Amino acid sequence: MAIRNIRTMGDRVLTKKCRTVEEVTPKISELITDMLDTMYEAFGVGLAAPQVGILKRIVVIDVGEGPIVLINPVITETDGEQTGDEGCLSVPGKVGVVTRPNHVKVEAYNEDMEKFELEGTELLARAICHECEHLEGVLYVEHVQGELRDTAAEYDEDEEE
Ligand code: NI
Repeated sequence: MAIRNIRTMGDRVLTKKCRTVEEVTPKISELITDMLDTMYEAFGVGLAAPQVGILKRIVVIDVGEGPIVLINPVITETDGEQTGDEGCLSVPGKVGVVTRPNHVKVEAYNEDMEKFELEGTELLARAICHECEHLEGVLYVEHVQGELRDTAAEYDEDEEE
């Protein structure tokens, strides 16, 4: 178990397309464990492998319902729409408004390389879309409506009330 360094916007590794995972080797198992530890330590709801510098198609998510590991995820269905604030551990201290599908279905492989399907709505749907885009080298900032906001500034304003 180890906490890995989270790469931040400007690091070229975040702009690259990730490679398919062919086999869950001990090294990949260790990576997945580290990704979960790193996500929890940073209070994130999702983390994709390129965010820790590894160009492989692996994401971890926990929206408060337990850990989800998606290997080689493919979104197969989307519907509805949700518009709300989104952030990313690779863009610390910032949030911005992004519109995403409100419901998604995703096919992926688990750590035993068994295929499964997952459905998500609301925050889980948002997290699945956000994390899958990391695997294509895309950050949510590309979709932000209006401007990225500073979370610290909003916190300070709240404090003054
Ligand atoms: Ni992110």
